[in-house]
Amino acid sequence: MSSYAALCLLFLSCNVLNEVNCHQLEAVKVSSRLPEGRQATSAIFDGKDVIYIIGGSNRNSYNTKDILKYNVTSDTIEKVAELPRGLNDGTNSMDKDGNIYHASGEHGPIASEPHKIYKYSPSTNTVEIATSLPFSAYDSATVSDPENRDKIYILGGWPYPEAIVSFNMATQTAEWSHNLSSNYYPMTAFNDDDGYTYLFGQPALVPTVEQWVIKLNLSTNQVVATGPHNFPRLKGKASTVWDGRYAYVIGGYGDLRSGYHADTILQFDPVTMDYVLLPVTNFPANRSRFLQEVSAVYVHTLGRIYIIGGFSMADQGGAATWIYHDEIWYIELYPGQPTTTTEFPPSTTLNPDVYTCQNRSDGMYPHPYSCDKFINCNGGQLTEFRCPYPLLFDPVGLTCNMPHLVDCEITCVGREDGVYPHPQDCSLFIGCADERVHIYQCPTPLLFDPVTGRCDLPEIVQC
Ligand SMILES: *[C@@H]1O[C@H](CO)[C@@H](O)[C@H](O)[C@H]1NC(C)=O
Ligand SMILES: *[C@@H]1O[C@H](CO)[C@@H](O)[C@H](O)[C@H]1NC(C)=O
Ligand SMILES: *[C@@H]1O[C@H](CO)[C@@H](O)[C@H](O)[C@H]1NC(C)=O
Ligand SMILES: *[C@@H]1O[C@H](CO)[C@@H](O)[C@H](O)[C@H]1NC(C)=O
Ligand SMILES: *[C@@H]1O[C@H](CO)[C@@H](O)[C@H](O)[C@H]1NC(C)=O
Repeated sequence: MSSYAALCLLFLSCNVLNEVNCHQLEAVKVSSRLPEGRQATSAIFDGKDVIYIIGGSNRNSYNTKDILKYNVTSDTIEKVAELPRGLNDGTNSMDKDGNIYHASGEHGPIASEPHKIYKYSPSTNTVEIATSLPFSAYDSATVSDPENRDKIYILGGWPYPEAIVSFNMATQTAEWSHNLSSNYYPMTAFNDDDGYTYLFGQPALVPTVEQWVIKLNLSTNQVVATGPHNFPRLKGKASTVWDGRYAYVIGGYGDLRSGYHADTILQFDPVTMDYVLLPVTNFPANRSRFLQEVSAVYVHTLGRIYIIGGFSMADQGGAATWIYHDEIWYIELYPGQPTTTTEFPPSTTLNPDVYTCQNRSDGMYPHPYSCDKFINCNGGQLTEFRCPYPLLFDPVGLTCNMPHLVDCEITCVGREDGVYPHPQDCSLFIGCADERVHIYQCPTPLLFDPVTGRCDLPEIVQC
């Protein structure tokens, strides 16, 4: 039996129909190193080729001020800026101009000064205070508002695991907006592409019903589904990434007695609300030790999860057995596949009455309704994809790109009611009513004439 097959048998949950699950995943150590063994950093991918790594603490619990720039293309790391003070276990978010907001973390409810959200601008390489937080955001999770790209939610953490703090990156204001219905400490979270938030964690209070995974509508704060009861207990801080189809929980679990393998990553399927553990060779932890306080990001351009630092320890604890990692690893999720944006799995299918792949050559096309989506035509078959937040589809480069680099005109915001040409397809046009977008198609073979605002014969229309 090949080791490939053996692996699949060992992890019985591995579904042979799911290509990702039966790939032999491997953690590859890059040659760059952090300046020292460092845990509880927070990392963010800029959408192109850089992972920024902010804060963290070392073996002596010394919190660093470092803002590090790791270039995934050149595999080089450098310190580019400093926070005004040492921080760890914060969270990062990026606005549409590429500025990074770091919600500060520092252990303990009594801080030496009020907690802040710091703004780091890579373009000017400056750090400034964006606003104060109502309390510490130590060990929180951060997700974006599905309906407002400017807004993020900072969830839970210490000392208020129930808190939801909303932060508007455009106005730079933060408020304690509501409270979670169930709370976890530690906790990790992600948003899917349909506007739902998923929380994984260890219930902070003794629960009557153990719900270690919840699917939440953040705007109503309602739990719409719960996950499996055998979800691994998070004993340490974990990091979650989303690749457009699955979420992956990295580190934080692993317990020989309960059978949770530390040398795996957890793949969570929001469609089934279930998970599988995917074994990873050369993973920095194994059965008796588990990895925690890592930061992880998904680099969609390469189809890789990057894992930064963290520490692993013996199951029974004891300072002598702690390892503080200065390494950066990556795990390629789709080994052997071309690293193009088509790696993103489908979400929904477009209404074929409006848009089809018939008579279109194979390739990627802008989505007719939405700037963050794109479609792929393959043998006349249409599949819809979405760029990872906050990226938008660039119809020129045919790839996902930072919003400020993409010319996206499929919008009715700030436009009078009326009809407007469609930026990519002359047979379509945009109808705006109360700032809402409607896409219409001219009857074949007519094309939209931007001058007259009517559908007309192709030989008359200037398109
Ligand atoms: C990352 O490295 C590549 C290869 O050296 C280089 O072309 C690119 O400009 C670098 N990116 C940044 C943002 O420094
Ligand atoms: C959240 O709960 C705390 C108690 O833990 C309470 O003091 C606070 O007022 C609540 N905040 C909101 C916005 O409901
Ligand atoms: C969340 O609830 C609001 C209010 O009921 C609704 O408008 C919105 O569509 C819901 N979000 C999702 C993702 O279903
Ligand atoms: C588990 O990891 C520890 C630390 O890296 C190592 O010393 C030990 O040999 C590993 N055990 C196995 C069975 O791989
Ligand atoms: C595709 O091309 C065929 C043959 O030219 C034509 O009959 C058909 O109407 C076209 N379909 C669409 C959707 O344009």
